[in-house]
Amino acid sequence: MTRPRKEPSPQERLKNWLSILGPDALIPHTPPPLTASPMASTRDVLQPFSKKNKEQILQAISERVKKCRACGLYASRKQVVLSDGSPDADIFFIGEAPGAQEDHQGIPFVGPAGQLLTRIIEQGIKIPRNETFIANILKCRPPGNRRPLPEEIQSCSPFLLEQIRCVSPKILIALGATAARFFLKTQAPMRSLRGRVHQVLGLPLIVTWHPSYLLRRPEAKVETWRDIQLAMKVLEKRNGNKGARAE
Ligand code: URA
Repeated sequence: MTRPRKEPSPQERLKNWLSILGPDALIPHTPPPLTASPMASTRDVLQPFSKKNKEQILQAISERVKKCRACGLYASRKQVVLSDGSPDADIFFIGEAPGAQEDHQGIPFVGPAGQLLTRIIEQGIKIPRNETFIANILKCRPPGNRRPLPEEIQSCSPFLLEQIRCVSPKILIALGATAARFFLKTQAPMRSLRGRVHQVLGLPLIVTWHPSYLLRRPEAKVETWRDIQLAMKVLEKRNGNKGARAE
């Protein structure tokens, strides 16, 4: 008779996970494949991790980012910019790269675009910003806020993918073309990517305008409003019609 296989305890799983991520892990590494096909959500796979476990994992990622020399940006940054928000968040926002204020404070989206993002979250979704999770594709500031180079995205994005797997959110929201094109592997214009629900990493992905763009073109805010409503509908469905708060 075959004995049922003993499931590893959450502590053992965390130990395994940390040993994979550990400070000596090779950088850069190959990102896990992105898939557009339906599969078990990362949330289902990682469900047993407690908030404390997730904080430890995020800390381990942070230690590795601080040592990363995979592209030249470490030389000009003031500090790395990892994330902001709750490791237990349902909603995970992804921006492009830190700007001057983020580089100065070590927190994503704290400048004028960040203040607008906070208003979108707190007035649109009606939850405190610190109940969402916010991160960027790049963890170091590109000089002069230039667009990230493809090789910078390639070497830095595995850290973002690890953050997503750790947080295991219910929905991803890509802010702007850099984040959208990274996940969807396309150069298509934003107007063709917005307004629908994509699937990546087994999670729904909504694409919306970057808050910096909205600062330059306030008339596009109405479209972001629609995107956020769409995201809330998807979230509500995943939650069994509980918990969406956008109006
Ligand atoms: N723009 C981004 O994409 N990310 C930030 O953190 C700030 C501005």
